[in-house]
Amino acid sequence: MSYKEHYSVLNKEVIKILTEKREDQTDVNFADMTFGAGGHTFALADAHKKSQVYSVDQDPDALKNGFKNIEEYGFNGRVHLNDMNFESFPEFISTNHSSLLFDGIVADLGVSSHHFDEGERGFSFRFDAPLDMRMDSDNDTVQTAADIINNYPEAELADIFFKYGEEKLSRRIAKRIAEQREIAPIETTKQLENLIFGCYPKKLQHGRINPSTKCFQALRIKVNEELDVLEKVIPGLLSLLKENGRLAVITFHSLEDRIVKNLFKDAVQGDVPYELYNKKPIVPSHAELEQNPRSRSAKLRIIERVNEKKSKNKYAQFSKIGENR
Ligand SMILES: C[S@@+](CC[C@H](N)C(=O)[O-])C[C@H]1O[C@@H](n2cnc3c(N)ncnc32)[C@H](O)[C@@H]1O
Repeated sequence: MSYKEHYSVLNKEVIKILTEKREDQTDVNFADMTFGAGGHTFALADAHKKSQVYSVDQDPDALKNGFKNIEEYGFNGRVHLNDMNFESFPEFISTNHSSLLFDGIVADLGVSSHHFDEGERGFSFRFDAPLDMRMDSDNDTVQTAADIINNYPEAELADIFFKYGEEKLSRRIAKRIAEQREIAPIETTKQLENLIFGCYPKKLQHGRINPSTKCFQALRIKVNEELDVLEKVIPGLLSLLKENGRLAVITFHSLEDRIVKNLFKDAVQGDVPYELYNKKPIVPSHAELEQNPRSRSAKLRIIERVNEKKSKNKYAQFSKIGENR
């Protein structure tokens, strides 16, 4: 299966922030939780010639293409690609490389353009294909979008469309699905697209975005449990940072961004010292948006493990002086 060159979102920003002040260091480790086409991984390995990069992906196409490119670009021995869901990464490191800590970790969430452009994966309504949507498409224990559409109770389907897609017509669409599947299972992207289209009032059927966009996003998030794995992995990744190590997370919708923002806030308030690198998320420049319109919803948040917490109380230093008297 072909795997096209991929545009790495906020690449320059991520590489600069994760590599700065490490130029003269030799024992430098990076990790990439979302290898994809390897854009961030290879840029990190390239930016710091003595670094080791530990990367993961769960998509068989990304992995196959990745192993080939690691060889081809001469990164053998420095880029270590593993087939796993990133939720297992912290445990994988503590089991297999127990003393390893990281200078920089990046996660560029969600699916890649490859998923949308490769029709038969069932992520896109632009192509007619079985409703699959599994990133880990080799894994038969993961339910497909068709399993969910044909088996979940109507109310649960409505909740998925509303919660993960913010689809206002969620109840109407779920009702229509429940009626339709009584007659015959809904098995393809086009069947689902036509059904959703029919649920929209005529004047909204030809709006700026396709009526199916929100439900397809919701289904994809549900199939891959994207929000659950994100929520589970962040505390583990934080614990893998060296002092001055940074974790950079790129999100593509408000549900993901809220999770990252809240977990970073919790970390800053905890006992281990962490500081936010940026209060407001970094977003793509105009130039990047022109080159890659798909990056328009990207937001980058970074957190750093620091040596000591900055005191929030500006008078604390004076009370310390007092204590020593
Ligand atoms: C947006 S793409 C990353 C693109 C990459 N940063 C690049 O520059 O080429 C996201 C990739 O992460 C993978 N992915 C998403 N969630 C994952 C998870 N929970 N575990 C492992 N891989 C995941 C997807 O399969 C996809 O290949």
